[in-house]
Amino acid sequence: MSQDDLKRMAAEAALEYVKSGIVGVGTGSTVNHFIDLLAGIKHKIDGAVSSSEVSSERMKSHGIPVLDLNASGELDLYVDGADESNSHLQLIKGGGGALTREKIVAGASRKFVCIADGSKLVDLLGEFPLPVEVIPMARSHVARQLVKLGGTPVWREDFVTDNGNVILDVHNLRIMEPAKLEQKINNIAGAVSVRR
Ligand code: 5RP
Repeated sequence: MSQDDLKRMAAEAALEYVKSGIVGVGTGSTVNHFIDLLAGIKHKIDGAVSSSEVSSERMKSHGIPVLDLNASGELDLYVDGADESNSHLQLIKGGGGALTREKIVAGASRKFVCIADGSKLVDLLGEFPLPVEVIPMARSHVARQLVKLGGTPVWREDFVTDNGNVILDVHNLRIMEPAKLEQKINNIAGAVSVRR
């Protein structure tokens, strides 16, 4: 079975959580399967709040109404993928660069269903470079602070987030305490968000 088949199976499993109302939708190739499947039951829902322009476009192409989070109120359900997960379901996200909006929609949702195939499960987070969204003028400053935290930040060149910012992918981290590292990175002036 291919990894794409596994991604589709993970997406299928999330469909049973969709009952009614407005669904929060993440970003990525696993979520793309979820969106395609959601199209088959779109009559059950009022619409979706999207975490990225690319997911919005895909949903619109299926005729799924895309709604503004400011008008939707709290959501029952958010469905999204992950780049890495440990057994405590602490995640690295942002491989697709949508981490800030993903974090916002997840935070506005009562339940987060993470759809990930087995290849994403690790003992220790950090093999996948940790994406950090950064205000462009702060790129070098934030990079220096990330080096002090033990990482090797690499600017994702030729990529701009939906919020007009840049991404630093932080290599060589062995993340023993994900919550503490998240807090430290979020406290760096100019770092918009890191998704843990
Ligand atoms: C995008 C994300 C994705 O959820 C993550 O990159 C997983 O992607 P895929 O399903 O393509 O493996 O965080 O910002």
